[in-house]
Amino acid sequence: MTTLTKPGLRPANPNFSSGPCAKRPGWSVEALKAAALGRSHRAKIGKGKLEQAIELTREILKVPAGYRIGIVPASDTGAVEMALWSLLGERGVDMVAWESFGSGWVTDVVKQLKLADVRKFEAGYGVLPDLTQIDFDRDVVFTWNGTTSGVRVPNGDFIPADRKGLTICDATSAAFAQRLDFDKLDVVTFSWQKVLGGEGAHGMLILSPRAVERLETYKPAWPLPKIFRLTSGGKLIEGIFKGETINTPSMLCVEDYLDALQWAKSIGGLEALIARADANAAVLDRFVARSSWLGHLAVDPATRSNTSVCLSFTDPDVAALDADGQAAFAKGIVSTLDREGVAYDIGSYRDAPPGLRIWCGATVETSDLEALLPWLDWAFAMQKASLKAAA
Ligand SMILES: Cc1ncc(COP(=O)(O)O)c(C=O)c1O
Repeated sequence: MTTLTKPGLRPANPNFSSGPCAKRPGWSVEALKAAALGRSHRAKIGKGKLEQAIELTREILKVPAGYRIGIVPASDTGAVEMALWSLLGERGVDMVAWESFGSGWVTDVVKQLKLADVRKFEAGYGVLPDLTQIDFDRDVVFTWNGTTSGVRVPNGDFIPADRKGLTICDATSAAFAQRLDFDKLDVVTFSWQKVLGGEGAHGMLILSPRAVERLETYKPAWPLPKIFRLTSGGKLIEGIFKGETINTPSMLCVEDYLDALQWAKSIGGLEALIARADANAAVLDRFVARSSWLGHLAVDPATRSNTSVCLSFTDPDVAALDADGQAAFAKGIVSTLDREGVAYDIGSYRDAPPGLRIWCGATVETSDLEALLPWLDWAFAMQKASLKAAA
């Protein structure tokens, strides 16, 4: 119920940002004390940690044995760009997008790579495009969980097992929170700072045997900068997938990722991570169901994210405002809660419809989300009162 009475209990951790996300429960800088600082990443100790990060990633995400896992530069964007620039152009490509990150990949392929044979399957914020129209004998690029609309694909059933093209999947806000169907995916990318609450900087690039085959049999017509190069003399550079990174990684970030992976393992691995995100999203879902002023941006419950939950205004007075008015209203709520130290970074993404985006990934404690709910109602009531006073 919305009320002008300020709630008492505050979330113990106000970090609800969709990236970088909250650190795992109990994290402190002590977790980094074994970092191989001041040591070469190519020394035994450094390479060992990078290898361990790859092995633990495989174990927790249940990545099939034949798939390569590499740590690459420039976060998730770096990993996606590497895949696009190294693999595309051999055949036509279907680009599938329903929010700003997916749209960014469309722009790259159309305007930067300038591929001749591109088909676009796009949908606005809140819905998926018609996935039945995709031709998987072509290459396909899509985002598993659209972070800025809170719309995800429900599963990999729309992808045929016997496809001829490659599927390139940006899974950065899905990995470690949603079941990625690796048999249906040839390239999977993500970063460390999302569901595991790691540090920003490094990207993960996972390749199926078919993606490797493409790399070894097809050479793009355009030049590739060194940090994108996955092959040498027509052969995969296997070292990249054994901890021999292309360039220098941060051993501090690596230590932090190892800590996050070990935490993930200690709580029960992937199933436990998914269960935590699901339980968190369910808290918000119940709140939205009884709310008089907020609704899900994602229309179909089957496509609703359990990480980046995006909410828009259903209160008739607020919904009647134009986009700028609604954005100002959202900003009022976000800055009030920020000032109170109750919730940080919960505004919707700059290109998305105005509203709130609340991260529900595995590192967020359910009790913190529960504590946040009365504050949302309170901040709304405050903002609505000022809207009325200004009218
Ligand atoms: C779906 C998606 N793709 C790409 C990115 C960019 O990620 P990074 O900053 O790790 O490059 C983000 C960041 O939020 C994202 O959510």
